[in-house]
Amino acid sequence: MSSTNSNFDLLSAARDAMQNSHSPYSEYQVGAAILDQHGSIYIGCNVENAAYGSTICAEAAAVANAIAAGASTPLPAIAIVTSTAAAPCGNCRQILAEVAPDCKIVLATPQTLSAAIETTLTALLPDPFIRLK
Ligand code: THU
Repeated sequence: MSSTNSNFDLLSAARDAMQNSHSPYSEYQVGAAILDQHGSIYIGCNVENAAYGSTICAEAAAVANAIAAGASTPLPAIAIVTSTAAAPCGNCRQILAEVAPDCKIVLATPQTLSAAIETTLTALLPDPFIRLK
């Protein structure tokens, strides 16, 4: 992992989406913004549910928004903003493997956008499940 300052638009979108998080149970806000090949940005935030297992992660929401809008895949980059600059959960890593298998992943807190941590899906999930034809 290394720091970068070249992802500001994506990080800003993720930070803004984080403000819309519906997280009354964990009180842990997550914002995500995913880039497509044409430079369009699609956002997501975590949407919790009283039935906890029905919660939608921010990264999954961003992927769903991108695909529903017709984004061109593979998606090259995602930014995720949380209070702890956390990496995506295992389920979200697998979701990214489907439509963003080689993506850059940029992690930051709202206060540290200019010192974001940069990694890749390949580093975080080196051997994803991929359905054989
Ligand atoms: N969450 C995400 O949005 N993305 C992840 O990768 C892991 C966790 C959310 C789910 C829940 O609303 C809150 O963070 C605490 O787990």
